[in-house]
Amino acid sequence: MRLELMTSPAVAAYLGRNTGIIIPVGATEQHGPDALIGTDHLCAEVIARRCGEANGIVVAPTVSYGMSQFHLGFPGTLSLRPSTLTALMLDLVSSLAVTGFTRIYLLNGHGGNVAPLRSAVQEFYAARSLAGLREPSQVHCRILSWWELPQVNALRTRLYGAQEGYHVTPSEVAITMAAHPGAIAPFDRPAPAAHGRDMILHAGDNYYDAADFRQRFADGRVISHSALARPEDGENLIRLAAENLAQDFSAFCKAH
Ligand code: NI
Repeated sequence: MRLELMTSPAVAAYLGRNTGIIIPVGATEQHGPDALIGTDHLCAEVIARRCGEANGIVVAPTVSYGMSQFHLGFPGTLSLRPSTLTALMLDLVSSLAVTGFTRIYLLNGHGGNVAPLRSAVQEFYAARSLAGLREPSQVHCRILSWWELPQVNALRTRLYGAQEGYHVTPSEVAITMAAHPGAIAPFDRPAPAAHGRDMILHAGDNYYDAADFRQRFADGRVISHSALARPEDGENLIRLAAENLAQDFSAFCKAH
């Protein structure tokens, strides 16, 4: 169920039986010469919505912008500062908390968001701790990137191995192909040039600035062989991710 397509009384009724919500969080940033600018938010969005529809879970509107400063050497990238994303997410988490949600699940689609998301959640709890509140917060937050879901991680490893890489991964491209048929023009492109150890140290979003990124990764991909992406694999990844997410969300909602 999409929050933006519900009425306020319908949300109140939902809160009577379930106080959990999923917020997809992604980015709007370059994804190489072939894949979509919206890849990171489109992936988190389709997985969250598929899960929400199948299981009657409310899904908040997608946070489509993320912390993408190192991609700003490529047009189409729109980045928030780390502090802006932290402030934005703190306000969203706080809004959900004051209106009755107690299990807030941030489904992430972009590695560069992880640190600001963690900061936002800690800012939320720090405000309570510093106010000296004696009662433990009833509000719990969980942050997970979709590729960490165990069955999804196993499938992408089986499909692509080391060619999955770190940015413009064939798994994320396959998911967008399945979610938005025809949006990506057919393409074929060789695997990116082999990278040495110093390049790999920069993967996992340990990047410097945008000019440095562009110099190191000329076509925008980071060790990912995007042309391996197939829509049928994307459909399987979405299905598995939505199932995995439902299980993880349910366990999160039940935990104290
Ligand atoms: Ni991406």
